[in-house]
Amino acid sequence: MTILVTGGAGYIGSHTVRLLRSLDRDVVVMDSLVRGNVASLLGAPFEQADICDSEAVTDICRRHKVDTVVHFAAYKSAGESMTNPGVYWHNNVFGTTQLVEGMLAANVKKIVFSSSAAVYGNPVSLPITEDSPITPENVYAETKAVMERVISWYGVTHGLRWVSLRYFNAAGASDDGVLGEDWSITTNLMPLVMKAALGASGPIQVLGNDYPTPDGTGVRDYIHVEDLATAHVAALDHLDRDGANITLNLGTGHGCSVLEVLRAVEAVSGKAVPHEIVSRRAGDPAIVYADASLAERTLGWKATRGLTDIVSSAYTWHRSQFA
Ligand SMILES: NC(=O)c1ccc[n+]([C@@H]2O[C@H](COP(=O)([O-])OP(=O)(O)OC[C@H]3O[C@@H](n4cnc5c(N)ncnc54)[C@H](O)[C@@H]3O)[C@@H](O)[C@H]2O)c1
Repeated sequence: MTILVTGGAGYIGSHTVRLLRSLDRDVVVMDSLVRGNVASLLGAPFEQADICDSEAVTDICRRHKVDTVVHFAAYKSAGESMTNPGVYWHNNVFGTTQLVEGMLAANVKKIVFSSSAAVYGNPVSLPITEDSPITPENVYAETKAVMERVISWYGVTHGLRWVSLRYFNAAGASDDGVLGEDWSITTNLMPLVMKAALGASGPIQVLGNDYPTPDGTGVRDYIHVEDLATAHVAALDHLDRDGANITLNLGTGHGCSVLEVLRAVEAVSGKAVPHEIVSRRAGDPAIVYADASLAERTLGWKATRGLTDIVSSAYTWHRSQFA
């Protein structure tokens, strides 16, 4: 039986596809390439299609004998979602509904879903557990909260079995430098810091240095993309052994400030990272880090890599792209 990976030509999806193939799992990627890169498939079986097309989903599921879906495909920029919310509701929420309808028509009833720590908004307590209040601060985060509920309701109405994984801040590149996060199609911190460090952009903007944190800059839980890939394999195994539907945090349990990230990049690269302090962005919380103990108890999964691994893998990959 085959695993269908939506959004498998994107950043986290491509690392997960590569890991699954290395474990001899049968995989087919479905990606519209709207924000993906065909080169990052590394030759994986591929169908170019949109998740909003439920008939295409059904057809792909039938032709490839799909058993389970890993659903990465979405738009992910919080800022863009506030200026152009309609495309987020359509692509993320309507798209997920169509994907599940298409799966069910082909009798595919298992899904691992990419959710986000963004659903917690400004956390009321730390570390953040899965029981923390869901208070999205932007349209993107709200679409993730709604997508989780769409999927769980299909569990009620159609017996869909699911694992929703709330990632904290995905970062880093593959340990061997083959895959990484393309800085031309992301607004995430790590690629932008790399771009500034390698002289491919002007100074990076640090959004606020007056937060109630040790150095005043925002603190986030950076999780290595290879650790995320491993968690998806564990989630698939959980569904295969008839594990319960569940929502899990995927983080390290440890927060790093923006300035700590900059210092780590400077230590690895030997170059100063040009940066400037600008005002806070509305809605950004001061500190976010996960309690990921439920994932450890449920999946036997734990993050194994820290900030230095993230920065050195990302630097190796970005330098190879820029050279
Ligand atoms: N990167 C992070 O830090 C992070 C954190 C939390 C959650 N997530 C979620 O994880 C998932 C993957 O994130 P990523 O960083 O790999 O993103 P990405 O943008 O690199 O990859 C998304 C992929 O989905 C594809 N896609 C988008 N809409 C599609 C559609 N309608 N039909 C088919 N393909 C479509 C894009 O072409 C792209 O290849 C997303 O759902 C994102 O919201 C990411």
